[in-house]
Amino acid sequence: MSDKIELLEKISSRLDAIEKLPKLKDNTISQAMDESGISRRDFMKWAGAMTAMLGLSSAFAPVVARAAELADRIPVIWLHMAECTGCSESLVRTDAPTIESLIFDYISLEYHETLMAASGWQAEENLESAIEKYKGQYILMVEGGIPSDEYFLTIGPHGHTGAANARKASDNAAAIFAIGTCSSFGGIQAANPNPTKAKPLHEITNKPVINVPGCPPNDKNIVGNVLNYILFGTLPALDNYNRPKWAYGRRIHDLCERRGHFDAGEFVQSFGDEGAKQGYCLFKVGCKGPYTFNNCSQERFNHHVAWPIGAGHGCIGCSEPDFWDKMGPFEKPLTDRLYQSVFKGLGADATADKIGVGILALTGVAIVLHATIATLKKGEK
Ligand code: SF4
Ligand code: F3S
Repeated sequence: MSDKIELLEKISSRLDAIEKLPKLKDNTISQAMDESGISRRDFMKWAGAMTAMLGLSSAFAPVVARAAELADRIPVIWLHMAECTGCSESLVRTDAPTIESLIFDYISLEYHETLMAASGWQAEENLESAIEKYKGQYILMVEGGIPSDEYFLTIGPHGHTGAANARKASDNAAAIFAIGTCSSFGGIQAANPNPTKAKPLHEITNKPVINVPGCPPNDKNIVGNVLNYILFGTLPALDNYNRPKWAYGRRIHDLCERRGHFDAGEFVQSFGDEGAKQGYCLFKVGCKGPYTFNNCSQERFNHHVAWPIGAGHGCIGCSEPDFWDKMGPFEKPLTDRLYQSVFKGLGADATADKIGVGILALTGVAIVLHATIATLKKGEK
C-alpha cells in the first residue's frame, strides 16, 4: 500500500472517531456558510488551498474539508494575557466573513474573554468548568505575553494571575497553541526594559507549545493549525522556534512579489520616490523580509488582497523572536550588525535548521553587499 493511501486511511479513521464525539454546536458548517452566502464550491476551493498550504497533496482535500466540518467536536479554550487583542480582532473583524472566520465561529469556543457575554464570577466559573469538563480534550489557545513577576496581570474575582491561569489550562489541554508574537516570544511586553518580566507561554508551562507568531498572525495559520490537529492529532514538523514548518518554513524574501527588483538592483531610496511608485524593492527603506520566516507573501491578509510589502512598507519582522528590540530601526536596513545577532546564534528556518551560525552571518552580510553591488551596477548602465 502506498504511503499516501495508508495516511489517508489513518486520517479517515481518526475523523470517524471524532465524528462520534458529541456535537457541541446546534448548526452545521454548511448552514453557517449558506447564511453567509458561501457556496459548497467556494468551500471545496478553500479546502484545496488549505490542503496545499499544509503541504499535503490534492488527494487530501476531501479529508481537509471533512476536518473543517468536524471542527465543532473539539472544544477550544482561548485565554488572553497581556496583549492588545489584535490577534482575535484580526480573525473576527473581517469586512465580510471569510471561511476562516466562519470556522472560528463554528468551533466550540468554550471560553474567550473578548467574545463571551459572561464577566466576573460567572466568567471565572465558566473557565473552571470548561477545564474540568473537557480535561485532556480541549485545544488551548493563548494570546499575549505573560508577566512572570506575578504581581502584574492579577485578574478576576479570585485574584488569580495570568501565569497561574495559563499554567492550569496548559496542564489539562490536549494541544497548546501560542497565538501571536506576544504569546510565542513575549512580544512588546517583553521588549526592553520589560517591566513586568513578561515571558512567552513556553517559558510558563512545561507542556509542548506550538508557536503561531505574527503581529497579528494570519487567520489561515490559526485555522490551519486547528485543522492540522484534527487531521493528525500530533505535533506538525516544527522549526527551531517551534513554529510549524508548513507556515514558517520560508523567508518572506523568498516569495516576495518585489524580489525581481531586489535581484535587479532596483530599490526604493525613500518613501514616495519614483522607485516606490514603480513597486521597487523596499530593502533600503528597512524591509526585514530577508530575515523573517512567515507565509505572508503567499497567503496575504484581508481576503488575500493585502499585506505589508504590497501596501508599500517593508516587513518589520513581526513573526521573529524579540523583533521589537532586534529588527529596529524599522525603516533602515540592518547594516550595522551580523545576522546571528538577530537570531541569537540559532538557525531559523526549515533549510537553515542545518546551517551554521557562520553561514547565517555571511548571508546577512551578503544581502547587504548584494544590495550595494546591484545598485552600483545599475548606476553604471
Ligand atoms: Fe521583498 Fe523586502 Fe526582499 Fe525586497 S527585501 S524583495 S521588499 S522581502
Ligand atoms: Fe509581519 Fe512581515 Fe508578514 S511584518 S505580517 S511578517 S510581512
